[in-house]
Amino acid sequence: MKDKVALITGAASGIGRATAEVFAERGARIIGLDRDAGHLQEVIAGLPKGERGHIALVKDLRSAEVAQSVVPDVLEKAGGLDIVVNAAGMCYFTRMNEISIEEYNEVMDVNVRALFLISVAAAEAMSSKGGKIINLGSNAGRKGRALSAHYAASKAAVKNITESLALAYGPNRITVNTVCPGPTVTPMWDGNFEGLKKITGKQPEEFWETWSRQTPLGRVGQPADVVELICFLASDGGGYITGQEINVCGGFMLTS
Ligand SMILES: NC(=O)c1ccc[n+]([C@@H]2O[C@H](COP(=O)([O-])OP(=O)(O)OC[C@H]3O[C@@H](n4cnc5c(N)ncnc54)[C@H](O)[C@@H]3O)[C@@H](O)[C@H]2O)c1
Repeated sequence: MKDKVALITGAASGIGRATAEVFAERGARIIGLDRDAGHLQEVIAGLPKGERGHIALVKDLRSAEVAQSVVPDVLEKAGGLDIVVNAAGMCYFTRMNEISIEEYNEVMDVNVRALFLISVAAAEAMSSKGGKIINLGSNAGRKGRALSAHYAASKAAVKNITESLALAYGPNRITVNTVCPGPTVTPMWDGNFEGLKKITGKQPEEFWETWSRQTPLGRVGQPADVVELICFLASDGGGYITGQEINVCGGFMLTS
C-alpha cells in the first residue's frame, strides 16, 4: 500500500470507512468520496497522516455527470491513481410491487451506473501502469431477493461489469474483482431494518440472531472481515487474481 493513491467511494461509513482506515494505516494516500460531508470529513481527519495528505471528495453519485467528474478530480488533486474501491451503495427492503421508480433508479444509478463510470475512467487513467479495482457486490447478487429485487439485480450487474472490465483491461495489467459480503454490521442496516420492520414486524436483533445461526462460522460479519480481502486484492500479492466474485460471509451463502 505504501504511497499508493487509493480512491474509496462510500468512505464515510461501514466497509468503505474501514477500508480507508486500514489502507491509510498501511501507507496508502486516501481519496475518500461520499455524499455525507460531515462523516466523510471526520473519517479523513482521523486517518493516520502519510507523507502527503488524504483528501475528502464530497459528491453525490446519483448524478451521472457527478460520477463522470470523479476520476478527473482525483487526478487533478492527487496527480495519479493506483487503486479504486467502489463501496458506495444503496439498499432498500421493499415489496416488489411497492418499489417506486425513484427508489429503483437510485439503487441502479449509485450501485451500477456510478460504479461503471468511475471504473472505466479509472481503468483508462491507470492503463499505462496497471492498477487494482475492487467492487462491492453482495450475496444478494448471486440469488434473487423477494424483498430487495432492485438491490439484488444491481449487485448481479456488478459481477458482470467486473468480468467485462477484467477482460477489457487485463492487457493493461489492471485487475478487477468483486467482493461479496454476507450480512455485515454497518450503518446501512439502520435504513434496511426500517423497511424490514414494516414488512415483517420483526426487530433488528431477531434478524442478526437468525443470520448468525444460519452462518456456519456462527456470527455475522464485521467490516474488518471484509477489509482484509479488499486489502489482499489491492496488494501485489493479489496481482494474479482478476474477474472474480469472492464471498466474505462466514459460509452464509451455503445456507441462505
Ligand atoms: N453491510 C452489509 O451487510 C453488506 C452486505 C453486502 C454488500 N454490502 C455492500 O457493501 C458496500 C458498503 O456498504 P456498507 O454496509 O458499508 O454501507 P454504509 O451505508 O455503511 O456505507 C455506504 C456509504 O455509501 C454512501 N453513499 C450512498 N449513496 C451515495 C451517493 N449517492 N453518493 C455518494 N455516496 C453515497 C453513504 O453515504 C455511505 O457512507 C455497499 O455497496 C453495499 O451494498 C454491504
